[in-house]
Amino acid sequence: MANIILVGSQWGDEGKGKVVDIYTEFSDVVVRFQGGGNAGHTIVIGDEQIILHQIPSGILHQNKLCIIGNGMVLDLETLTEEINLLKQNGYFSDNSQLFISEEVHLVMPYHRLLDVGKEQKAGDKKIGTTGRGIGPAYSDKINRTGIRFIDLFDKHVFKEKLELNLAEKNPYLVNQLGQAECDSQELFEKFTALGKNLRPHLANISVKINQFIEDGKNIFFEGAQGALLDVDHGTYPYVTSSSTIAGAACAGCGIGPTKIDGVVGIVKAYSTRVGEGPFPTEQHNEIGKMLQEQGKEFGATTGRPRRCGWVDTVALKHAVRVNGFTSLALTKLDVLTGMEKIKICRSYRLDGREILDFPANIKEVADCEPVYEEVEGWNQDITKARHNEELPPATRNYIKILQELLGVEFILISVGAKRDDTILLKNPFEL
Ligand code: GDP
Ligand code: IMO
Ligand code: MG
Repeated sequence: MANIILVGSQWGDEGKGKVVDIYTEFSDVVVRFQGGGNAGHTIVIGDEQIILHQIPSGILHQNKLCIIGNGMVLDLETLTEEINLLKQNGYFSDNSQLFISEEVHLVMPYHRLLDVGKEQKAGDKKIGTTGRGIGPAYSDKINRTGIRFIDLFDKHVFKEKLELNLAEKNPYLVNQLGQAECDSQELFEKFTALGKNLRPHLANISVKINQFIEDGKNIFFEGAQGALLDVDHGTYPYVTSSSTIAGAACAGCGIGPTKIDGVVGIVKAYSTRVGEGPFPTEQHNEIGKMLQEQGKEFGATTGRPRRCGWVDTVALKHAVRVNGFTSLALTKLDVLTGMEKIKICRSYRLDGREILDFPANIKEVADCEPVYEEVEGWNQDITKARHNEELPPATRNYIKILQELLGVEFILISVGAKRDDTILLKNPFEL
């Protein structure tokens, strides 16, 4: 038995969904502990593609339990849609597969309006959010005015909280942001009904997970976003509004750090970013276009094109440090096939100085010039490789250099979007 955290090590979209889906085979329970509908985790099975936003990526496996942790912010309207879509596709036939924290904070329609309205008002200073209401919902949580799932089941508490929130937010929405106002009675009825439907999933998930741990189950904690989008350790303010690093897993579901056995970092073989903010190795050229086309780099949540560039080991080493990775999974290696030369950023240069630690000042990050090592590319199709030995020497060399620079072992290599397109080197629950 083991309890393993899996998180993104770059700017999100590293392929967490695919890797969680694969590792679910070895686990009993999958837990999401932060973020919300801003996440888009893609799983490809045969010709079918499924994108999960709020439900853990373990849900496609029958008999595996999935938990929505208190550290998330949950949109009950889109969650209901996500559940219906899964059921229509023949998944999630057993309702007892999913538990939702009583303490989780809700994303309300006014949070979405605030998110979109503030972004529009910010003009070219915008963050480039997903528009899913994430920032405003976490703001309310920290401000102690948020509405939690359990509040829906006490009419008086829910009504009072709703009215207090709308008294503050409606004038701001209408007068400052030019958005529609929300009707208290309408929201009260809608969310009371949504809550009633979802009530069977409600649970004290801290009690449940700690019991699972005692029972010797294998538990997997699925992160959303990535280290460089972390609210403390990312490129603030161009970040998301939650702590996305491994340390957040415990607070986000009510277990102690002494229960964690390992942390797997997901590393994409190149870099991508959606939204605004500095990105030192970004390629505004044919290379960037090729990565975007070959990697099908379009957002799983918003459909926006992702900015693309070379792999950045300064940013990755920052992620290794703040997460304490014990192993790594390398994804989308096949996308680099056909590149004559591949570049690896080893350090930055700023005002004549060599920079090895990712700067806190985003102006500095934007001004940093990447210093690259160039290695040979490969032309052979690697998507059929299932063992390291089947990879061309140049591909193995690329993996070796990355592993040496990061100082952490790769235990999985992903060579295509499908479940089977994977070189499984080690089972994280047996390390
Ligand atoms: P996540 O947010 O980290 O779960 O990643 P996304 O699902 O947003 O984006 C990753 C995209 O890459 C998805 O479309 C996946 O189907 C796809 N993908 C994952 N691993 C691989 C891989 O090894 N090769 C290729 N070509 N695509 C992959
Ligand atoms: P997954 O889990 C990539 C980015 C947004 C924006 C910033 C803030 O699929 O890897 P937010 O809506 O969170 O307030 O937006 O964070 N962002 C993501 N980028 N993958 C994600 O999730 C993301 N979730 C948020 O594009 O730049
Ligand atoms: Mg994604």
